[in-house]
Amino acid sequence: MRKSIAGFSKLSKSKKIDWIVNTYFSNADDAKRILKQYWNTDDKLQQLHDEFIENTISNYYLPLGVAPNFLINDTLHTIPMAIEESSVVAAASKAAKFWLERGGFKTKVISTTKIGQVHFTYKGDFDKLVTFFNQVKSKLILETTAITKNMEKRGGGIIDIELRNKTADIDNYYQLHASFETLDAMGANFINSCLEQFAKTFKLEALSFDLFSDDEKEIDIVMSILSNYVPNCLVRAEVNCKVEDLTEGAGISGEAFANKFIQAVNIAEVEPYRAVTHNKGIMNGIDAVVLATGNDFRAVEAGVHAYASKDGQYSSLSHAKVENNIFTFWMEIPLALGTVGGLTGLHPLVKFALELLQKPSAKELMQIVAVAGLAQNFAALRSLTTTGIQQGHMKMHLMNILNQFEANDLEKQTLVEHFKNNTVTHSAVTEALKNLRVPSE
Ligand code: MEV
Repeated sequence: MRKSIAGFSKLSKSKKIDWIVNTYFSNADDAKRILKQYWNTDDKLQQLHDEFIENTISNYYLPLGVAPNFLINDTLHTIPMAIEESSVVAAASKAAKFWLERGGFKTKVISTTKIGQVHFTYKGDFDKLVTFFNQVKSKLILETTAITKNMEKRGGGIIDIELRNKTADIDNYYQLHASFETLDAMGANFINSCLEQFAKTFKLEALSFDLFSDDEKEIDIVMSILSNYVPNCLVRAEVNCKVEDLTEGAGISGEAFANKFIQAVNIAEVEPYRAVTHNKGIMNGIDAVVLATGNDFRAVEAGVHAYASKDGQYSSLSHAKVENNIFTFWMEIPLALGTVGGLTGLHPLVKFALELLQKPSAKELMQIVAVAGLAQNFAALRSLTTTGIQQGHMKMHLMNILNQFEANDLEKQTLVEHFKNNTVTHSAVTEALKNLRVPSE
């Protein structure tokens, strides 16, 4: 039986690695070599990465790719994407080029409000709680001045605090439901600090509120935390063109293509099994840019999927229509992003990505990220409703298999040519490579 370990986080990096490789690996030296080959040779840079999290033992690489030719509101962008899935950057670039020739993407930030909540219990008369809240509300805001001062100077801060009665759901359960404008910051630290201060003030002030009985004075704070559900931090991205311009030279009429495409979107609107995959394709584009720009993709994922269920059933995030012979494809999506704070000023590649995007504001980044999602969705639906998805996917998959077998340049070239006319499967590639490697007699 393996033994647990006490005080692991206090060990040096090399002692941590020793323990891991000796406990879990049959070849400890090889495991160590694998970890070390991803260490940065620049000690300072390595230390920076080590200190992002606890118990760092190595760096985990993902490719950083770029998709050029994104015309967004008449400005050209090259979009950075950090992702391991082989077809995503190629699909984004293709969609960008397609829409570049048809007027590009149009985007608009609809709203930028974020939410945080103090969850508490109170066992008493609701009217008294309302009176207390109305009396203490300005003090709640005042006592966060040290936290909000700078944000307010720049035009952001606390927008409002509401008292919400949730006792229909859970006995004695109430919330301070607060809304915030955090400008170019994602705002998690700002919001959570404000909330914890609200909770402190609220609890303390209750102790001396005359109308409360002794029992009512005992407000119990359960927790104070921002919400990653941000339906009021919303951006819209859209493309449109004449129906006949959709398929110039593609051997299928614009009308037939538009009909099929709209059918595919309609299916995702009504059928959750399809909607999840449809939206996953959107997130292929979104997560890649969110990651490259140092934002919190888990927060974005959680918020987006909650939004996709806002009407009671999980549904497509994107929509399509033809009206007056104009094909329109669009999406409204909640995105809480930051371009200052967090990793943005710390990770050299995040700084690179933001400079590549010409140092966008959070609002500009929301628009770029939404476009990456819409483009990805367009590319996926175009393939799915015409050639099928595997043609493009397998081309990229072929290269992964060849790399897995450490194929050299000549082998790669020969087999890429061979598989232009043959179906790519793992076994077919293995076989073809084996045949190529048979020594000639
Ligand atoms: C694969 O990563 C994404 C797709 O499945 C998206 C879709 O089906 O729309 C191709």
